[in-house]
Amino acid sequence: MAPNFSFDAGAGFAFVSKSAFLASAAIIVFITAAAFTRRYLAKTTTPPPHILTFPPTRRHVLSSFPQFEKTKIQPEILASTLKRRALTTTKKADLSKDNLYTPMGFATQEIRALGRFPDYSILTGVRHPEPCSPSWDISKAVFRPFRPFRWGYHQHMALMKYEPDWWVELEQNYHKTMAARKALLSSHGDRIFFQGPGADLAARELMEMLLQFLCKRYPQHFSLSNNNSILHNGLLNTTTDLLTTPPLRVLFDTIPEDYAIMLRNESDGFYYLRAAMVCSSVGWDIAQHRDEPLRDIHTHVPDYASKMAMSMDRYFSKMPTDAPVNRCSWSIEDWEAMWSSPEVDAGWTRSAFSASPEKLTYKDLKLRCDAQTLRRLPMSGAVVFNFKAVFAPFEELRTEAYIPALLHRVLLEGKENLITYKCVDNVRRVAMDALEKWAADQVAQGVVPPDWEVGTLEESPFFPGWREKWARQQGF
Ligand SMILES: *[C@@H]1O[C@H](CO)[C@@H](O)[C@H](O)[C@H]1NC(C)=O
Ligand SMILES: *[C@@H]1O[C@H](CO)[C@@H](O)[C@H](O)[C@H]1NC(C)=O
Ligand SMILES: *[C@@H]1O[C@H](CO)[C@@H](O)[C@H](O)[C@H]1NC(C)=O
Repeated sequence: MAPNFSFDAGAGFAFVSKSAFLASAAIIVFITAAAFTRRYLAKTTTPPPHILTFPPTRRHVLSSFPQFEKTKIQPEILASTLKRRALTTTKKADLSKDNLYTPMGFATQEIRALGRFPDYSILTGVRHPEPCSPSWDISKAVFRPFRPFRWGYHQHMALMKYEPDWWVELEQNYHKTMAARKALLSSHGDRIFFQGPGADLAARELMEMLLQFLCKRYPQHFSLSNNNSILHNGLLNTTTDLLTTPPLRVLFDTIPEDYAIMLRNESDGFYYLRAAMVCSSVGWDIAQHRDEPLRDIHTHVPDYASKMAMSMDRYFSKMPTDAPVNRCSWSIEDWEAMWSSPEVDAGWTRSAFSASPEKLTYKDLKLRCDAQTLRRLPMSGAVVFNFKAVFAPFEELRTEAYIPALLHRVLLEGKENLITYKCVDNVRRVAMDALEKWAADQVAQGVVPPDWEVGTLEESPFFPGWREKWARQQGF
């Protein structure tokens, strides 16, 4: 292996290796021919930065499963073995063949021994959710009021601690959303849903984890029977045969949220999008990104390549299973789009008012928040990106303490390319006028002190008093 390479160089790998190269080149040039230097460099700069980086293994938990009671578990597998004996993720993998390893260090025979529906709280190190409160009623349930505004605004991943009770959040539009998704699947299935040949293990694992979650969180609506082979969905009144239905299809028909599965490519150590079902994309569709590595998927995000790509790659390479994260992004829109794509609508525009911008008022505006979860699956090592689009009438912000002043500041002084990404100009202008007035009202009413120094709220991504508001909305 390349001797002057630090695989942990991490931030700025390319940069580090280049300066290492310059230093060694300076010496070599003195002692040998330039041709040799070129050959040397071609060889030493080839290994991709994360090819020997594997996520922290969860092998040690195997001994908690009865199947492994009598087995001596090797706690760690060498990175060189994981590389040499890697279970492929780029074509159909043969799980019946022994001694092939996932990036998590699980061997194929161990995966078979774990069987269907192993206890994922043990495998992941993330507890099961608590059942939702007995007073929770899906016909009144609303999403929590996400207001993830931050000031000073630095672009970073803005990660928040994962909340084990909230991986899936069901609310009163369940039936409506499920019906809309089903219609979308039949009209544009190939744009919203795909699964590559190497993603079978990850797909099954994700399905089992999510169904285990649902049955624990919403036991009044979901249950498993027949040795975990039948799923009962009491909301849609359906039963699904889990032995014959493709796992991602089970999820599509059960949970109104979006999922994208990234798998580690065993030949370069980068993560590629191998399976997905994404219905809430507006202005793009997930099929455009099929099989792309992480950095290509984000080309539309301002400053991604220059500021985030390398640290994201590094983050993915090491992200532990027992520390999932949440984040929340936002935008302001003038209609509640679920899915639309220029690929199928030549005249597509983001704004519904592009032909008559003067007609737009703040009453038309919606705050869109995408509550996201990033989790590493414990066996396949897949990284699953999950999100739900949550729309709220913009006018709700009027009575939420501190929010108008905070968002006004972000829209006024935020970095231009980020703000234009979050809303079109016309929407921005109308939103700012309303927010300025509401912020002044809150000062006049004594809700916000006149000398408040605008900054990210302690309650972020929520706001002071959000629990009371949320309880009121649901009739508690
Ligand atoms: C996996 O990585 C290798 C090396 O970068 C690349 O050539 C190959 O196309 C990738 N495989 C797939 C299926 O994306
Ligand atoms: C239930 O499924 C497991 C595999 O997950 C299998 O080992 C076991 O024999 C099954 N039990 C019955 C009663 O079918
Ligand atoms: C649920 O489905 C069963 C069997 O298909 C049917 O008998 C029952 O009436 C349905 N219940 C509801 C609430 O739709």
